[in-house]
Amino acid sequence: MFRKGVSPLDFEISQSLKHLPEQFFARLASDVQQYVQKGYDVINLGQGNPDQPTPEHIVQAMQEAVAKPEYHKYSPFGGQPFLKEAICEFYRREYGVHLDPEKEVAILIGAKHGLVELPRALLNPGDMVLVPDPGYPDYWSGIALARARMERMPLTKENEYLPDYDSIPETVKHLARMMFLNYPNNPTGATASPAFFKETVRFASENQICVVHDFAYGAIGFDGIKPPSFLETDGAKEVGIEVYTLSKTYNMAGWRIAFAAGNKRVIGALNLLQDHLHCSVFSAIQEAARVALTGSQQCVKELRQMYEKRRNRFIEAAKDIGWHADAPKGSFFAWLPVPDGYTSESFSREVLDKAHVAFAPGNGFGEHGEGFVRAGLLTTENRMKEAVQRIKDLEIF
Ligand SMILES: Cc1ncc(COP(=O)(O)O)c(C=O)c1O
Repeated sequence: MFRKGVSPLDFEISQSLKHLPEQFFARLASDVQQYVQKGYDVINLGQGNPDQPTPEHIVQAMQEAVAKPEYHKYSPFGGQPFLKEAICEFYRREYGVHLDPEKEVAILIGAKHGLVELPRALLNPGDMVLVPDPGYPDYWSGIALARARMERMPLTKENEYLPDYDSIPETVKHLARMMFLNYPNNPTGATASPAFFKETVRFASENQICVVHDFAYGAIGFDGIKPPSFLETDGAKEVGIEVYTLSKTYNMAGWRIAFAAGNKRVIGALNLLQDHLHCSVFSAIQEAARVALTGSQQCVKELRQMYEKRRNRFIEAAKDIGWHADAPKGSFFAWLPVPDGYTSESFSREVLDKAHVAFAPGNGFGEHGEGFVRAGLLTTENRMKEAVQRIKDLEIF
């Protein structure tokens, strides 16, 4: 706050901003950038940025939409009705889920926006939120901005990286108001079953907790298994919402378009907050999103196949050098244990420094991520094989 009589250079940031965690991905990107600037050929498996372009028919729809004068005006509050209808069609077609376009859908400027806004839309300072650990760090940012508290739910290999609701203490269950989940999971690559989601609905309704299921990798399931939507579960809409982004399914990360669907009150709160913060998304992007969701899904099939091939080659190549990791069941991440004698950070630093291969250290996703690194399957098979070869040459394994 600006204090009278004090130089403007003494502006202080707010208490909310002081509570923000370190922006993990920003630090990671800057570490990698330092090596790139020195001229090293870095193989960056640390990031989560899709490497493929947006499919042509979506780009073309955008090009045409940009020229429409009606889209040069402010977009309607709450988003274009045609996109909300398209979202409903998408959920009906893909998951057999029926949604009310007016009351059960909110259009977002990227999933990150919605995930960070949700605690502010629903919580009061001091309220408790359950978060997966390891988990996507942006959940923590929204919780910090809302001045809420978080309680970590450990995701362990033994429990297939699912939270164990029975181990959550009674006091925590009683205080919790919201819970973040994310399957297919970033960073572990785990998927959830319909039975787990059923258990989640039971747990949430017994304890009156709002479930926020982040379905960012919903389109990326391997070995013939289609990841279920949380909203397919009986009673899901009574206890929560699902957040879906077009960033990964259609390689549209730079376009900033996503949506939330489900519980009317939660969607209403999110839309109310958004009406005060933004004026929806550029309508041309909304039109391109409509085309993405309702047009041919062949591009999604091909993308999934490409990630599955990359996954197979990478996990196989790692195994060949004695680095054993479970093959992820979904998402575009592999979750690999670090060798004995290393921490997540020390291994990542050494490999970046000596082999110029970047991983995301697991502890950046929470304390239960210690002992692992995350690799993005976001470069060609050859580059991924080369990354493994460079690590082999270090003779760590
Ligand atoms: C789990 C998870 N949720 C949400 C997002 C953010 O998606 P968006 O690009 O729509 O903001 C990401 C992006 O990496 C993610 O990994």
